[in-house]
Amino acid sequence: MVSVAIDGPAGAGKSTLARRLAAELGYIYVDTGAMFRTIGLYALRAGKDPKDNEAVNALLPEISLKFAFIGGEQHIYLNGEDVSTAIRTEEVGMAASAVGANPEVRAFLLGMQRDMAKTQDVLMDGRDIGTVVLPDATVKIFLTASPEARATRRWKEYQQKGVEVSYEEVLADVRQRDYQDTHRAAAPLRQADDAQLLDTSEMNFEQSLEAMKKMIVEKVG
Ligand code: DC
Repeated sequence: MVSVAIDGPAGAGKSTLARRLAAELGYIYVDTGAMFRTIGLYALRAGKDPKDNEAVNALLPEISLKFAFIGGEQHIYLNGEDVSTAIRTEEVGMAASAVGANPEVRAFLLGMQRDMAKTQDVLMDGRDIGTVVLPDATVKIFLTASPEARATRRWKEYQQKGVEVSYEEVLADVRQRDYQDTHRAAAPLRQADDAQLLDTSEMNFEQSLEAMKKMIVEKVG
């Protein structure tokens, strides 16, 4: 099985690029951030502080996550409810970052993530795919861009969706999430020793896509 691990900070364009690449290469795209977001959403809905590990751990037995791939798109179900759209808010992103620092949450999701790569060719994106989830991945890419470039892209996305948020707020969130994701004890965000670095600060979408494709084709043939 071919596995492509794509890690990097929030807003680097991982999911948009990974989704396109997976479609072009015929692989299954697995967005692990969606799993952490779903747990964050469940904690918020239950009125729990996502940073409170004990409170979140007590919720885990109540949570059943399922995936379906419809037209190549990953849908995620929380206890039977399709939450693919509900998890795409800034608040849930921040909650996901908080529950991502919880080792029990990571252990809860790890088996599921590894199983998905056992039976099909995958392109998996996250924070610790190359370092922890798939240490033997066929290709490892660490995708990054400056905080300003990432905040600008996020802010434009919000504008298109009609979400009212200032650039300064988005930049502050990007910086806070970078800090949380890189400073946690459990599987922090870092570039695997054998991962190839791609900084897209000065690249547009098509250029980034081409650069990634080249990295994959060089390894997979
Ligand atoms: O990729 P994303 O923005 O959807 O991820 C949301 C948060 O989930 C991110 O800030 C940290 C956490 N996360 C993680 O800890 N490990 C992963 N493999 C993916 C996401």
